[in-house]
Amino acid sequence: MRETFEGADANADLRAGLLDARTRTLALLEGLDPEEHRARRAWRRQDEALTLLQLSIVNPLLWEAGHIAWFHERFVLRDLDRKPPIRPDADALYRSLDVPPDARWSLDLPPLQTTLGYMAVVQDEVVGRLQRGPMSPHAREVQAIGILHEDMHDETLVYGRQTLGYPAPGFAVPPGPALAAGPLPGDVAIPGGRFRLGAEPGHGGLVLDNEKWAHEVAVKPFRIARAPVTNAEFAAFVADGGYRARRFWDDVGWHWRSETGAQHPLYWITEGPGWQTRQFDRIVALAPHQPVSHVSWHEAKAFCRWAGRRLPTELEWEVAAAAEPAASGGLGSVKRRYPWGAAAPGIAYANLDGRLLGTVDVAAFAAGDSAFGCRQMIGNVWEWTDSAFLPYPGFVPGPYKAYSEPWFGPLKVLRGGCFATRGRLTSNLYRNFFPPDRRDLFAGLRTCAL
Ligand code: AVJ
Ligand code: FE
Repeated sequence: MRETFEGADANADLRAGLLDARTRTLALLEGLDPEEHRARRAWRRQDEALTLLQLSIVNPLLWEAGHIAWFHERFVLRDLDRKPPIRPDADALYRSLDVPPDARWSLDLPPLQTTLGYMAVVQDEVVGRLQRGPMSPHAREVQAIGILHEDMHDETLVYGRQTLGYPAPGFAVPPGPALAAGPLPGDVAIPGGRFRLGAEPGHGGLVLDNEKWAHEVAVKPFRIARAPVTNAEFAAFVADGGYRARRFWDDVGWHWRSETGAQHPLYWITEGPGWQTRQFDRIVALAPHQPVSHVSWHEAKAFCRWAGRRLPTELEWEVAAAAEPAASGGLGSVKRRYPWGAAAPGIAYANLDGRLLGTVDVAAFAAGDSAFGCRQMIGNVWEWTDSAFLPYPGFVPGPYKAYSEPWFGPLKVLRGGCFATRGRLTSNLYRNFFPPDRRDLFAGLRTCAL
């Protein structure tokens, strides 16, 4: 889908993308408690260790809604078209760099109907300007980024619905029995060689600034798991006292564990026999062969140390997802856009686009295997890597200057995508990045042999 943003002749692809993203945004706002930010909805739900800290990671859904519209208004209508602001207070309310996350709970946010009205006015204008004829590649790129930005916040809205205990999104359906596919143990061996990390120029489509540009790097042979770590595997770490044993944690990780009091992944519930977990507003039995989710990078690292394993680097992750074996035994020169090849991320390949209510067993989606036989590298859960989020050589900020550059440094890279990620956003190249203490994400891990 990211390919379809290209081409100077028609803007139908951008219009379709805007409408599709907005349909999803509105569906994700269904049932929103109009007083949520005043009531500090997260704070009241103390039953699941949702403490004041949570207010700095989850935004009121109402703020997300306004911020999505503000982004289109700011970068398209105001910066490209030099239009006056629709709301004089829009920057003060919705410009993320100016409003720290916990302050978003004490803003005097416009009520839901007003916010929906602002969203509709902006949408009419950004869709309308596409009908004025051919646009410059720069203008098309800015509008395409607006769509992907809405996609990213639509995923954040799903996190918000989970964190705040709202019902699951109405468009998601329960997974069918075929997806109860069980575990997929074992490693695959990936040969070493030379690999071009990042996006190749001229391969078409929108390339985000932090994916630029492909550059050759050496990779040593490694062994990586065919599938993400499952709930059952992670439960063995918990049962073995993994959260109480200092030796499995580094200093920062142990500090995080002590401060949060974490004893198990967020949302796991210990009452009664066996684990349960909260899925949106429902308590369900923990599915043993689904990937562990809602673990921080620190928990992922501690699990690895307990298991005698390690996290892949983002280079290793991209090699395992995108490379093909050469006939001579090393790495071939062909690079796949998706683990399964070039086909768009449709329903056969990956658990994406919020089609399903949540995660599925790690052995599902066999058609999505990489050339080396790694399954679910895209979809189901994000995978933490060992890598800090850093620029590729020669990095230049893109039209959305604050997308990557302010965040280089202490954040960790996640790869792949989760069940809520839009298929058109992610690929083997997509670099997600979050602080290592975030555990509200639909994020787990895949391990490598030491
Ligand atoms: C790239 C997903 C980490 O959600 O914080 C949204 C994307 N940047 N608005 C985020 C983003 C600005 C970003 N991630
Ligand atoms: Fe944003």
